[in-house]
Amino acid sequence: MNTRHVIVLAAGKGTRMRARRPKVLHRLAGRTLIEHVLRSADALSPATTTLVVGHESDLIRAALAHHPHLRFVEQEPQLGTAHALLQGRPVLDGAKGNLVVLSGDVPRLRAATLTALLDTHERGGNVATVLTTTLKRPYGYGRVLRSEGEIVGIVEETDATAEQRKIGEVNGGIYVFAIEPLFDALTQIPEAGPKRERYLPAIVPIYRRQGLQVWTFTATDPDEIRGINSQTELAEMSTIVRQSKNEELMAAGVSIEDPATTYIDDDVSVGADTVIHPGVTLEGHTTVGERCEVHSGVRVVNSSLGDDVTVRNHCVIADSHLASGAQVGPFAHLRPGSVLESRARVGNFVELKKTTLGSGSKANHLSYIGDSTVGKDVNIGAGTITCNYDGTHKHQTTLGDGVFVGSGTQLVAPITVAKDAYVAAGSCITEDVPSGAMAVARGRQVNKPGWVEKRRRSE
Ligand code: UD1
Ligand code: CA
Repeated sequence: MNTRHVIVLAAGKGTRMRARRPKVLHRLAGRTLIEHVLRSADALSPATTTLVVGHESDLIRAALAHHPHLRFVEQEPQLGTAHALLQGRPVLDGAKGNLVVLSGDVPRLRAATLTALLDTHERGGNVATVLTTTLKRPYGYGRVLRSEGEIVGIVEETDATAEQRKIGEVNGGIYVFAIEPLFDALTQIPEAGPKRERYLPAIVPIYRRQGLQVWTFTATDPDEIRGINSQTELAEMSTIVRQSKNEELMAAGVSIEDPATTYIDDDVSVGADTVIHPGVTLEGHTTVGERCEVHSGVRVVNSSLGDDVTVRNHCVIADSHLASGAQVGPFAHLRPGSVLESRARVGNFVELKKTTLGSGSKANHLSYIGDSTVGKDVNIGAGTITCNYDGTHKHQTTLGDGVFVGSGTQLVAPITVAKDAYVAAGSCITEDVPSGAMAVARGRQVNKPGWVEKRRRSE
């Protein structure tokens, strides 16, 4: 097999996005565009992967810091796609094999299509193979010019004649090149277009004049080669990606009541017989088990939900784990590090942070429980607050198995309420409570008989 190298062009400003953020750092289905492209590239197991960056390159390098094997080259100023590719010369010239050129703004290329493109290239012994497709609305793309069936050139929208604009076959901006003649050929590309850029597609006629073999490979699904050039195109692409994710899940037995308002990122998994109500967002690396029910307005980020979990309306759950049979909401906030063990329940207006709620335990109303370990079958009454922060440090609260905390209690951490202890309603607990004890910590009530009548008379 030939050696394969990958280079991704991602130096452009993305002017048509009208945003400060570099185009390739815009997100689609939970990942940046460039992350999508790198995932397609990884599927080829290339010998090397190089990124051409320029506009806001520091931001792009930082966003990809967790890809240690990437090589970066700078393109400054950005003088077109051929000029961008030429910047790869110092790291690639002399390398053997073929170079796959990907575009940082074409995020949905399937691995199978890339492999087929490479196969066509390698089997044909081509110097260049261009990925094309046919679009109903080819506006904006370079059109493929053919003579006697063979590709002879590519003309950009801005340079095309009215006749050429009618051509439906477009350049996908994805290519395979034999490395050996490539960089010399790139230097021969002239300036073109209103911005006097050097266009990579202009390599086609140069190679043909030299009698070298240039072919195309046609992608059957046009959505795969869709480029993102504007916010509208990004939104259109999101809809396409979202629909296909929803369809994949529905085909695997998930009920999605309203796919149009259901937002499920690429890497999320959902088990069969789970019901997802309208307006739900499942993000990042979230997993949802079987037979769960997720009600409207819920947002789950990087969390795992076991089987038979119920999340009622308008909950936010982040970096948390809910074991089987847990119930949450409505209007609950599970912040990072929350763990609900089996059948634990969290109700309305309850906030949890870095807290484990043992199996069968409940915090059903209006509470803040932070930095806490709560045992099994604990009842946390309405309005219980852990006072976990002293202005400098966070402190732990520990509630043993079977503890009962009465409503309106403050637990001033660090504090431990041992197994089976009771805390009377309205207490402000500042000392540990031993196992089996009842703690009461509140002012004694005094009733003054006849007080109201006396006040009235003195007025
Ligand atoms: C390009 C192709 C067009 C094709 C379309 C497919 C050219 C001239 N045109 O057009 O034929 O149909 O892709 O999506 O190649 N970039 C750089 N440096 C630059 C300019 C661009 O790195 O100086 C990068 C961009 O960041 C982007 C990619 O190259 O990731 C494509 O550039 P873009 O300006 O989007 O090209 P299109 O106009 O879409
Ligand atoms: Ca583009």
